[in-house]
Amino acid sequence: MLGRGAAAPQVTRGKFITLEGGEGAGKSTQLARLALHLRAGGHDVLTTREPGGTAFAEALRGVLVGDAAQGVDPLAEALAHFAARADHVSRTIRPALEAGQHVLCDRFFDSTFAYQVVAGGIDRRHFDTLRHAAIGDFRPDLTLVLDLPVALGMARARDANRYEALGAAFHERVRAAFRSLAETEPDRCVLIDAAADTDTVARAIASVVRERLGIGP
Ligand code: TMP
Repeated sequence: MLGRGAAAPQVTRGKFITLEGGEGAGKSTQLARLALHLRAGGHDVLTTREPGGTAFAEALRGVLVGDAAQGVDPLAEALAHFAARADHVSRTIRPALEAGQHVLCDRFFDSTFAYQVVAGGIDRRHFDTLRHAAIGDFRPDLTLVLDLPVALGMARARDANRYEALGAAFHERVRAAFRSLAETEPDRCVLIDAAADTDTVARAIASVVRERLGIGP
């Protein structure tokens, strides 16, 4: 119990970091490496992914990456991603940040922009509307865009899901969309050369996180 008049201890809000990129870019490996790195510096870190991160969103993930979504309308697909995301933000990400944890997330709304808007062809205005309705102004503090040539990514990608079967031209559009983010939103998005070996990429990411957010060992 806090004594009368004693202020509750102030918790510094954690940082929200997302990793983005095409298939086989190494996001999951690098997310795990960054979590280890930050924890070694004494930071409290939560790792999560999209689509996913709550029971509801993980159930939607099963639908989105499975056979039931074969040939799905891209707008319906974007709606499902934002339904999953709304739940993920309100029940997992925001509470963790408010409790002082840093949250590392494998994909976020930039994936909807790259896959459903730029590659899938839905109207940008629909994306903006859905985003606003689902999560308001909430956005990552830092987005690391792991970039590598499509052919290299497809060769590296191990788990063949529905998205990986969409073909090289689709994935070239995805890559171009991610690369454009680093130009249009340089304050939030940093392009990382993901063609390098795992250790080199991990070091590059650690140094960007230190420079941009001032966190690390
Ligand atoms: P993953 O392979 O990174 O686990 O992601 C699953 C697939 O979902 C991946 O191929 C990209 C796709 N995806 C979208 O199309 N839109 C989105 O908003 C998200 C989060 C993922």
